[in-house]
Amino acid sequence: MSKFWSETVKRCVPYVPGEQLNDANIVKLNTNENPYPPSPKVVEAIKVEAERKLNLYPSPTVDQLRTDIAEYYGLSKDNIFVGNGSDEVLAFSFLAFFEAGKPIRFPAVSYSFYPVYCKLFNISYEEVKLNRDFTLPVEAFFQTDGGVIFPNPNAPTSIYLEIDAIKEIVENNPDQVVIIDEAYIDFASESAVSLINTYNNLLVIQTMSKSRSLAGLRIGFALGNSDLIEGLTRIKDSFNSYTLDRLAIAGAEAAIKDTNYYKSTTREIIHTREWITAEMKKRGFHILPSQANFIFVSHYNKQAEELYAALKDRNVLIRHFNKPGIDNYLRVTIGTNKNMELFLNKLDEILA
Ligand SMILES: Cc1ncc(COP(=O)(O)O)c(C=O)c1O
Repeated sequence: MSKFWSETVKRCVPYVPGEQLNDANIVKLNTNENPYPPSPKVVEAIKVEAERKLNLYPSPTVDQLRTDIAEYYGLSKDNIFVGNGSDEVLAFSFLAFFEAGKPIRFPAVSYSFYPVYCKLFNISYEEVKLNRDFTLPVEAFFQTDGGVIFPNPNAPTSIYLEIDAIKEIVENNPDQVVIIDEAYIDFASESAVSLINTYNNLLVIQTMSKSRSLAGLRIGFALGNSDLIEGLTRIKDSFNSYTLDRLAIAGAEAAIKDTNYYKSTTREIIHTREWITAEMKKRGFHILPSQANFIFVSHYNKQAEELYAALKDRNVLIRHFNKPGIDNYLRVTIGTNKNMELFLNKLDEILA
């Protein structure tokens, strides 16, 4: 605490990201990164760009990348906003569409950055308790005063909500913005992007950090009605004209075009997810139905915290949230088959 701190600094409660240890011996299954490298075309595009114009500012409007993303989804450039990771796009969205005195709603078990933004920007919020099976109580998100946000699939539960339920939530909040945070959507069945031409109050946010293996490049984007996108752009241009650097823009343009590459790594991860789920069930784990690149698990007689610590001692890092309601669960990112075999061997050692 310092006497120089503003009321905002005093009020905020910063987000704590998963550990990033730089030890090559660690099997890192704690931050939902993709275990596969990005497409070779992305790496090539970054190399080419690095030798070109780094002395010049990047495009403030990022038109080409927005056009490429729009083309991929059959939309127009005016429906796309890009930012420095979806965390930044989320932060700008909270500032653009939510405010004090009109509580927004999000699930009590959800992405822990949401309450952080609320405190930072002084936005009122209500946390909605999930059903006993961790599914979303859809009607509890109807008729809100300030809007709605949740991840689909939800994090850290990994559970997917069907598009028809999303439609109902959007229709029952006609005067508020509903934000669907689709960080993990490429590992699930269907995106809500197909609804944005129908509903002017729906904003979908995606990232290249997960399915496109680009967590290190920081690219996120929002898809929505052009008025929502203009709102986001006004916030961004009041903050920083160049949130994406030249290397990130070049890499992201190559990534959005190389559909075959990301589809094949995504298929591989889904395949590994189904295999590890079956194996862990045999070992007494309860596993929520996952449509993400991670699973959320608990063991019938071993405490989650104990398992987390025992795995860490054996150089396997997973995520444990010390939060009521989920403190006996563990979130495990899906790695390569080899990563998961090693994880399973260590688990067997611990459970023996
Ligand atoms: C639900 C959810 N939304 C957004 C993000 C942020 O992703 P990024 O800022 O890397 O795009 C994450 C990261 O793990 C997440 O789990």
